[in-house]
Amino acid sequence: MSKLTTSASWQALQEHFKQIHGTHMRQLFAEDPKRFARFSLQLDDLLLDYSKNRITPTTLDLLLQLAHECDVPKWIERMFNGDIINHTEHRAVLHIALRNRANRPIQVQGQDVMPDVNAMLGKIRGFTEQVRNGHWLGYSQQRITDVVNIGVGGSDLGPVMATEALRPYASRDLHVHFVSNVDENHITDVLESLDPQTTLFIIVSKTFTTQETLTNAETAREWFLAQHPDTAAIAKHFVAVSDNVKAASEFGIDPDNLFKMWDWVGGRYSLWSAVGLSIACAVGMDNFEQLLEGAHDMDEHFRTAPLEQNMPVILGLLGVWYSNFFNAQTYAVLPYDQHLRFLPDYLRQADMESNGKSVDREGKPVDYSTGPIVFGSVGISGQHAFYQLMHQGTPLIPADLLAAAVNLKPLRKHHEILMANVFAQAEAFMRGKTEKEARAELQAQGLTGDALENLLPYKVFAGNKPTNLLLFHTLNPRTLGRLVALYEHKIFVQGVIWNINSFDQWGVELGKQLAKTVLGELQGDASVSSHDCSTNGLINYYKKLRKD
Ligand code: F6P
Repeated sequence: MSKLTTSASWQALQEHFKQIHGTHMRQLFAEDPKRFARFSLQLDDLLLDYSKNRITPTTLDLLLQLAHECDVPKWIERMFNGDIINHTEHRAVLHIALRNRANRPIQVQGQDVMPDVNAMLGKIRGFTEQVRNGHWLGYSQQRITDVVNIGVGGSDLGPVMATEALRPYASRDLHVHFVSNVDENHITDVLESLDPQTTLFIIVSKTFTTQETLTNAETAREWFLAQHPDTAAIAKHFVAVSDNVKAASEFGIDPDNLFKMWDWVGGRYSLWSAVGLSIACAVGMDNFEQLLEGAHDMDEHFRTAPLEQNMPVILGLLGVWYSNFFNAQTYAVLPYDQHLRFLPDYLRQADMESNGKSVDREGKPVDYSTGPIVFGSVGISGQHAFYQLMHQGTPLIPADLLAAAVNLKPLRKHHEILMANVFAQAEAFMRGKTEKEARAELQAQGLTGDALENLLPYKVFAGNKPTNLLLFHTLNPRTLGRLVALYEHKIFVQGVIWNINSFDQWGVELGKQLAKTVLGELQGDASVSSHDCSTNGLINYYKKLRKD
């Protein structure tokens, strides 16, 4: 048995779970008219309503005891102090330094990282201003009209998500595109409409060894040189973001065009660094800095608020409550904002790559669930697609709903309808519909006898489905920064409770290693027999199709 599952607070939570797991939230709301005030938190305009959870004040007390027993405050301090908390890679974890707007010194092995961070922000400003104001010219002296970010995973998803989220703030004269897939359709589709004279490529790879990214970058360079065969012109059309200066230089990136990352920034936590160059190109450096300000607001809140008033801590603990006691294996992110449509994809990597671990910090297998499966989509689309399972299916799927009170470009009654759906869905998840209510409804429709009784079971909703609601004024750069940092820290809190390292990702290596072997075997027509019969069969069938 692990230290976690034998801890006093865990044991107490198990006992408490037995007592309350059958309690309906309808009852909890009926018993406590102050439940909304009791179970909600606010940071400026950002409201977290977590009252529609299967918790009582005792649950929260016990979860907070668990956080204390797992030393959450100490781990927060360790992260902010630059301690080597990513122990398997011997690295500090300092995405918080990238948005440390207070400029407090942060030491990594005795050296303050802030001068380098600030210098990099200055370099990003200089570069993006030149590109945006037309002073950065391509080889034919024309201004840049299109920027293509080439990267994958953390070098893609954050920029994609944030650029879309901040679309109303973006320049109309500069179009930002993203290529992540090594499937040639992706880069072909993007390049199809572009002119090399006015296109700038940003190659983003922390390691500069990611095969998919390097292949796309080489293809982009070939495409460029095919139309302008002068390697000297590459400096005006290719820049890179990487921690691996040597490899980026070998690729042909001019050292002046290289934006350095640091090993203490994890890929999935890196949009605040030069990895966000495409975001800053799209929305301008002032807005990019607002994004950093927002994240810093949340960092300060996380660092200083007592645990019971700490949004990331509360969200993290609620996730633990459902994963480990209710055995919920999934968790849904449901933004009611079209511009947040890539947030679920972004959080899927942030959460699943961070907490998809089954070995604890002492190298022992865990005996409890860790990170859940994260999925989601824009809420309205989800309502008409997969909410059925959430309302009436068998799994319990806790969900976060996110919405802005005000749209920047209001149109007729759209936003009121949207908001009505946000509130109605959260209420429906919580209340459900009892048999009595369903019966009354069917009777009101004129049904009686067998017709009514036969339909009745299908019309009942159990309810008692937990949701958190994050409501804010408008989706602006600062709000986005707060939201993303909120989730980053929530993931960290859960990693601390589960005693895992949220900052490595060894699990993605195996597939990469095997792909290298298979790639060699795909050369030529010889039949392959070095794998299991399924893999051999598939490779050989592929070779046959390819030949045909
Ligand atoms: O393979 C997973 C991963 O290492 C992610 O963690 C990372 O975000 C992505 O690949 C891209 O890595 P890089 O920026 O080094 O190309």
